[in-house]
Amino acid sequence: MDPIKNPFSPGAGSPPPELVGRDAILEQSRILLGRVLQKRSEKSILLTGLRGVGKTVLLNEMNKSALSAGYRTVFVEALEDKPLAVLLVPHLRRLFYDLDRIAGTGDKVRKGLSVLKSFIGTIKVSVGDVEFGLDIEPERGSADSGEMEVDLPNLFTALAEAAQERKTAVAILIDEIQYLSKTELSALIMAMHKMQQLQLPLVLMGAGLPILPGLAGDVKSYVERLFSFPEIGPLPESSSSQALQDPVKAAGVEFENSALEEIFRLTKGYPYFLQEWGYQSWNHAEASPITTQIIHKATETVIRRLDENFFRVRFDRLTPREKNYLRAMSQLGADPYRTADISESLGVKINALGPIRASLIKKGMIYSPSHGDMAFTVPLFDEFMLRAMPDFKPKGEM
Ligand SMILES: Nc1ncnc2c1ncn2[C@@H]1O[C@H](COP(=O)(O)OP(=O)(O)OP(=O)(O)O)[C@@H](O)[C@H]1O
Ligand SMILES: [Mg+2]
Repeated sequence: MDPIKNPFSPGAGSPPPELVGRDAILEQSRILLGRVLQKRSEKSILLTGLRGVGKTVLLNEMNKSALSAGYRTVFVEALEDKPLAVLLVPHLRRLFYDLDRIAGTGDKVRKGLSVLKSFIGTIKVSVGDVEFGLDIEPERGSADSGEMEVDLPNLFTALAEAAQERKTAVAILIDEIQYLSKTELSALIMAMHKMQQLQLPLVLMGAGLPILPGLAGDVKSYVERLFSFPEIGPLPESSSSQALQDPVKAAGVEFENSALEEIFRLTKGYPYFLQEWGYQSWNHAEASPITTQIIHKATETVIRRLDENFFRVRFDRLTPREKNYLRAMSQLGADPYRTADISESLGVKINALGPIRASLIKKGMIYSPSHGDMAFTVPLFDEFMLRAMPDFKPKGEM
């Protein structure tokens, strides 16, 4: 059928033709935004889930609802090798200037800009290459200690007070939160703690790979009072079918029920894979209805494309030893995998694999769902590893 009319949208953060099965979480974010505007306290939201479940799409939706509720927003994507402060500063500067343009009296915006200026002073020391001209005197003693856990709460306070003075509120959205360092995460937590205590109109909404299990126990109990960590997972079968059927029906086309069942079996309901299978099935079909036979034909193309792109870009970032580790995991069946079993299958001591495990976690390939367990962050990556390294013999490879 006509590829130009293809309704599906496989891609990173690309809005699906129909955002299925996420009403509860969107409602939660509307409640958060509404309550904070009315100076009522509410937990910040950090969405967590595996690759391709639709976290970025949701964060974009939340950004839209913040804007329509009257918030000013900042949206950043954390990066593996860039400090959060460096990412935030240009956005915060823009935000202060925006606030400055809103009519109003008071000096909180000017004061906020001075606090930002002293904050920039501290990151210049640690980063070197940041140069943001701000034609204003820094506010000495505010946000310039060089300790993120002190400075970020002060900066957020100055920002939220400025927003409050101009009768608006601020939403800060951070994607890929797993790339934040421990200090940055703890600074954010402390900043949000301060927002809650002072009842200031600033909300935080984030998304990333599961990070809660990685937080230390004592921090965790405190964090759970400030943040909620909704888990974004694969869609159940009824929602998966709806995500496929509704968009094609709008174009006068239909999937056979058995075809929908087959796609669910293959994708396990993971949204990114649903879009890929939907997209290729549409292109392979000559006419409505789309049958199971078409799905089988499309599957060859889908798997080839996933292997060449989605999986391959991640595979290519791995060292040979990291590949061996993941390949040994894949050999063990479905997740979670006991770290002890992985080292045993590779024939080495568990401690010897600590550094590889750590670098795979840092690269966002695996995470620890509970103590002593490991799991892939990319759905179906185990099957890919078996295809990518078919002749692997674990013993003696490390
Ligand atoms: N509820 C949904 N129903 C159907 N398709 C969806 C849904 N949510 C997301 N998708 C589709 O899934 C794909 C992945 O979405 P998105 O990039 O938001 O995932 P992600 O969780 O941010 O992934 P990553 O961890 O790799 O950044 C997109 O093609 C999007 O259109
Ligand atoms: Mg994303």
